Amino acid sequence: KRPKIVVVGSINMDLITETPRVPALGETVLGNRFSTLPGGKGANQAVACARLGAEVRMVGCVGDDGFGTELIENLRREGVCVDDVEPVPHVATGIASIVVENGDNSIIVVPGANHEVTVEKVRRAEQMIREADAVLLQLEIPLETVAETVRIASRHHVPVIVNPAPAVELQADILREITILTPNEYELAVLLGKHPEETEDFRSLIEAYPGTLVMTKGGDGAYYSDGEKRVAHQPGYKVEVVDTTGAGDTFNAALAVMIGRGRTLSEAVQYAVAASALSVTKFGAQGGMPSHEQVEAFLAQTGE
Ligand code: RIB
Ligand code: NA
Repeated sequence: KRPKIVVVGSINMDLITETPRVPALGETVLGNRFSTLPGGKGANQAVACARLGAEVRMVGCVGDDGFGTELIENLRREGVCVDDVEPVPHVATGIASIVVENGDNSIIVVPGANHEVTVEKVRRAEQMIREADAVLLQLEIPLETVAETVRIASRHHVPVIVNPAPAVELQADILREITILTPNEYELAVLLGKHPEETEDFRSLIEAYPGTLVMTKGGDGAYYSDGEKRVAHQPGYKVEVVDTTGAGDTFNAALAVMIGRGRTLSEAVQYAVAASALSVTKFGAQGGMPSHEQVEAFLAQTGE
């Protein structure tokens, strides 16, 4: 049976510049290539869930411009249900200005229409959330909408996975109702109100966290704990890195799909590390996001 996943989140057009070197402030350099590709953490996660075999519904907003039309079309083509994706008049579709140097990126996000994903909008989706096997959230939409979605999911005992990206500090009452929290090392420090530069050891932060937490660590895989046992480590897989944009989104989607399938946390984490490894071998956030069959084949080939 295909797991039902609801993704509430952002939809952006990614404006990507590949450059041999990121310029300093006030400096000009010649770049290699420019591309516009579908992105946004919410939409990326929705697309990845669909490729991994889930039945996906997305709740989000775009502007009433060309990017908005293209992005809705892209979601539809990927098999994501867009009945709850609204084109909002008089606002611009969200964009991300991405600079890629040597496979690594820096990003400026301008939320635009993503600001319009309101508490009211998510309340209207309550029935759909209630019927889901898992709900997936990130932080490129208003925080109060994220909090309300967490409350609705938790009220109906639907597992809710929150990818706390981009980094913000989260209130204890929201944290308590999240089923699985998935920060990277930097986001983990920020969300617990620590200074990322002054933070000692991520393991002690994970250990001290009372709930289930999975921390992604790039090529090093993921570290996780269910709040009881000691921190476990799922090592990363060696792949040729083309572009890491969207790796975290693929990870979160894969985790949600496996939790939606009723798999254990360690099975889900291993699958998610494999899926995100495959995603970085192709350019663009959604380029390289694997199908369920591709992840299975990859795991079989690595002998696991
Ligand atoms: O996680 C990657 C995404 O972050 C990009 O697609 C970009 O749109 C930003 O939102
Ligand atoms: Na990619």
